[in-house]
Amino acid sequence: MSTSEPHARFSSRLPSAENGHDARSRQAARVVNLRKEYHLGGNNIVHALRGVSLDFPEGDFVAIMGQSGSGKSTLLNLLGCLDRPTSGQYFLGGQDVSRLSDYELSRVRGRLLGFIFQSYNLIPQLTVVENIQAPLFYQGRVGGKETERCVRLATMVGLRERLDHRPFQLSGGQQQRVAIARALVNNPRVILADEPTGNLDSQTGEEIMRLLEALNESGRTIIMVTHELDIAQRAKRVVVMRDGLLEAAH
Ligand SMILES: Nc1ncnc2c1ncn2[C@@H]1O[C@H](COP(=O)(O)OP(=O)(O)OP(=O)(O)O)[C@@H](O)[C@H]1O
Ligand SMILES: [Mg+2]
Repeated sequence: MSTSEPHARFSSRLPSAENGHDARSRQAARVVNLRKEYHLGGNNIVHALRGVSLDFPEGDFVAIMGQSGSGKSTLLNLLGCLDRPTSGQYFLGGQDVSRLSDYELSRVRGRLLGFIFQSYNLIPQLTVVENIQAPLFYQGRVGGKETERCVRLATMVGLRERLDHRPFQLSGGQQQRVAIARALVNNPRVILADEPTGNLDSQTGEEIMRLLEALNESGRTIIMVTHELDIAQRAKRVVVMRDGLLEAAH
């Protein structure tokens, strides 16, 4: 595996990202002074985010790094509409989603976002195709057309020969490919990934990164948390969190 090649591709993509900023391209997402407190009873309050402001232009590929406990997953969960901030604003596709009800948040999630987790989060009883299709089941979309689309997605991530396998019959990298195909099933503009290569060996991690890069090149915005510097350097930019704040904001 060559290490110079990914960096060459990394730098060759930089100019277009910068042009995007110059042209004030549309924002895929934007957070303004985002705070998150966890109240644990009595005076015990954890200030997990202490005022984070960050813009994500369309087509961005950003890696979020930082020490354990610095607030990365908290930020990603808010960006993923899995939780609401204590204060601050979150604009997704131009709409302020920071005060929506749980039901409205789940609709926004289904329409605009795709998730990839470190531990894949597949449903053990379901096959590859059924796992990819799972988000559509919840929307009552169960027809043959949908199944065909899921087979195409499985093929795209290299699992054409594994359509009827269950998660325990797949390698870690293959399971993560299923999770990526599942994240794409609603054709989201923004993909959120929390340590997508965290459980994989470096070569399999490399394959997953190539898939994420291809998705980014097709126009999707990718926001990825990682502990690994070489993985982070594959993104277009890196932001570092420290103690609930962005380091760059100091
Ligand atoms: N549900 C919760 N209730 C109370 N405190 C929480 C909760 N979730 C996170 N925290 C606290 O908020 C802070 C930020 O946690 P977070 O999970 O965002 O860190 P992280 O940067 O993702 O860390 P890691 O790299 O270990 O995954 C930590 O101090 C954590 O203990
Ligand atoms: Mg975390």
